[in-house]
Order: sequence, then C-alpha cells, then structure tokens
Amino acid sequence: MHLEIDEQRLQNQIDELSLISEQAPPVVTRVLFSEADQRGRAFVKKLAEESGLRVRQDAIGNIFVRWAGRDAGAQPIATGSHIDAIPNAGKFDGVVGVLGALEAVRALQKAGLKPKRSVEIIIFTAEEPTRFGFGCIGSRMLAGTLTPEKAILLKDSDGTTLEEWRRKVGWSDDLAMVRLPKDGYAAFIELHIEQGPLLEREGLPIGVVEKIAAPSVTRLDLTGVGGHAGAMLMPDRHDALLAGAEIALAVEQAALTSGSPDTVATTGIFRIEPGAVNSVPCLAHLEIDLRDTQSSTRDAALRRIEQATGDICRRRGIQFNLQRMAADPPVVCDPKLVSAIADACSAVGLPFKRMISRAYHDSSFMSQVCPTAMIFIPCRGGVSHRPDEYSSPQQIKAGVAVLARTLAALTSE
Ligand code: GLV
Ligand code: MN
Ligand code: MN
Repeated sequence: MHLEIDEQRLQNQIDELSLISEQAPPVVTRVLFSEADQRGRAFVKKLAEESGLRVRQDAIGNIFVRWAGRDAGAQPIATGSHIDAIPNAGKFDGVVGVLGALEAVRALQKAGLKPKRSVEIIIFTAEEPTRFGFGCIGSRMLAGTLTPEKAILLKDSDGTTLEEWRRKVGWSDDLAMVRLPKDGYAAFIELHIEQGPLLEREGLPIGVVEKIAAPSVTRLDLTGVGGHAGAMLMPDRHDALLAGAEIALAVEQAALTSGSPDTVATTGIFRIEPGAVNSVPCLAHLEIDLRDTQSSTRDAALRRIEQATGDICRRRGIQFNLQRMAADPPVVCDPKLVSAIADACSAVGLPFKRMISRAYHDSSFMSQVCPTAMIFIPCRGGVSHRPDEYSSPQQIKAGVAVLARTLAALTSE
C-alpha cells in the first residue's frame, strides 16, 4: 500500500491550532474550559468533518471522530490523544497524536483502504492536570476510574466545580453515559512526542512504548500565622512559606535518596497568601508531582514526604492538610500491539527502540479498557512542556506513517 502523508498540510494545521491559545505565540496555553480550549475543540471538529468523518462528543467532552469500517459489528480500533495544554506549553504535546491521527486516516482513505473495522480518533478531555489538580479526566471517566459522583465535585483553584463548568459550556448529557463497555474497542494506539531525549540521542525515528511510569499528585495546604513583617519578632513566627520551602526540599530529597534513578519529584505549584512584601505568609499551597516506574518505590518516597511534612509542620507550629489527588499504577503495554507497531516500523523501513514512557498519557487509562500501546517520535533536546518544544515535519511524518500502517493492519484483522 502506497501512503501519501501530506507533511506540509499537517504542519500547517499544527501551526494553526497553536495560535488558539490563552497566551501570545509561541506560547501555547489551552486549559480545560478556557475559551481557547473551546475554540481548539471547534477547530479539530471542523477538520474532521471536512474529511467526511463523523464527530460526536460525550458528556465530559471527549470527542470521537469515526471513520466507518465495512463491518459495523466489529470492535473499532481507537487512536488519538489530547489538545489541552498546560500554561507555557508548546504546540506538539498531544496535538501530534490528534492531528497526526487525522492525517493517517486521510492517507489511508486516499490509498483506497476500505477497513473492516472502524477507526475512532478520540480527543480526550483534560489530559493535563491544570484545572482540577490531576490529569486524564476524560480517559479516567471512560475507564470508570473516576466516577461521575466524584467528578462533579472536583473544584478548580477558584472554587468552581466541574459540574458548574459543564453547565457554563453547555455540556448537559448524563456523565453516567461516559464509561466505556469493556469490549468497546479492539485496541488503542497513541502517537506522541517522546518528551525525553533518548530517541534523538540515539538517532532513532520511532520509539515503541512498552511501559508507562506510575505518576502521583499531592496537594498540600499549610496554615501558619500571618502578621506585620516589621513588628512580628522572629521567635513568634509560624511562617507558612518557610514550612513549604522546607517541604519542597524534602520532596527533592525523597527522589534523590529513593535508590532508583527513575524517581522524579517536582513541587510545580507553590502559592502563598497574602502575598505582600511586608506581611508574614499565613497560607501556602503546594502541589507535588512524584513518579517512578515502580509503584512500590514511588509509594515509599511518598511516605517519606508525608513523614517530613508532619515533622516540619510540628516543629514550626503549622497546620497542614495533605490530599493525595492521584496515585496511578504503572502500565504494561499490550505485547501483541507492541509487535504490531514494530511490524509497521519494518514495513515502512524505520528503525525503532522499545522504551518506557516517563510521562503519563491517556493510554494509561485506555489500557484498563482495551489492549493499548504507544508510538513515540523524537523531540528536540527532549524538551516538552515548554514553548520551544519541537519535532520536525519529517519526524512527525514518520510517526504518522507508522500509525497509519499499524491502523491498516489492525483494522483488517
Ligand atoms: C503529562 O502531561 C505528564 O505530565 O506526564
Ligand atoms: Mn503534557
Ligand atoms: Mn501529552
């Protein structure tokens, strides 16, 4: 089968979507429920409809784009990713797996493939954790890991609940309908940038993901005693920022001393109140991301952070509230799908490497619903979650070619 992948058209679409952002170019910020998120969704739906594909959206905003196969009764093959973006992000994270999947389908259509199984491209809601403190809201709900009862209560930093947001943007369907049946899809394949440096370093165009690391998110609220920065003497202080600063260092130590080079820990959010130069901070809010490839190593590091938080807060006379927002297991990708992707690489003549994903993905939750695997492409310097994130049109084309070949094989079985 000869596949014509139009890398220029795909690049133009990636560029156009990147301009739909809450911040000026080259910064991409598209947080769930923002105006940019809504416009980004409309952009992708329009592209799908222009390719003659059927589009629907579920009650949590997951978008499903279907290329109908010959056998309406056969389980479809799913692919896709996300288009939401954290603050100060780039244009490729998630987007390559969405717009790249559309290009793969267009190339297969053009090549005259009449697939037996349908292909469904899923654009998942809020893979990124920005609004509600943990990621993969859409895919967690598809898998049933996040229930409607818990989801509606999620609150953002302004205190607005997910249910209030749903009403604001006009999503009125019943959330109980989101969960997928166990036999809904025959497979899920996600194309994504590596977000790490290994493929580039080794000069390889494709990574086939065999395992996805175990992430966690912890929220920590510290309450101290505020007061006048000039008049409150040092022995009388219970400064929430200083407790938070010590905890952030303990977070770093927990990763450094875990005994595993795969443990990574980040205090990515640290806000204080009241935030005046002449006022002792009375409140601090921290959000901590901690991951490892093994749950046991990650959980041991989390326990050390909890212990340190208690010790530091007792010593400093600070009240604390620690909330574990998420702690997900690592995922082993389906060996048959890993082989199918490897075969597709051979068919298009591209060398590849089997690898671990250190970032999490909607694949982590789709794996609870159906066999799942991922295709990685290199990104410059391994940079991601930054505006200078970059993969070249040729690198993206290679990923789309492998995705298209894999879909062609899986949809004909
Ligand atoms: C996904 O964006 C992650 O943080 O791994
Ligand atoms: Mn991301
Ligand atoms: Mn992503």
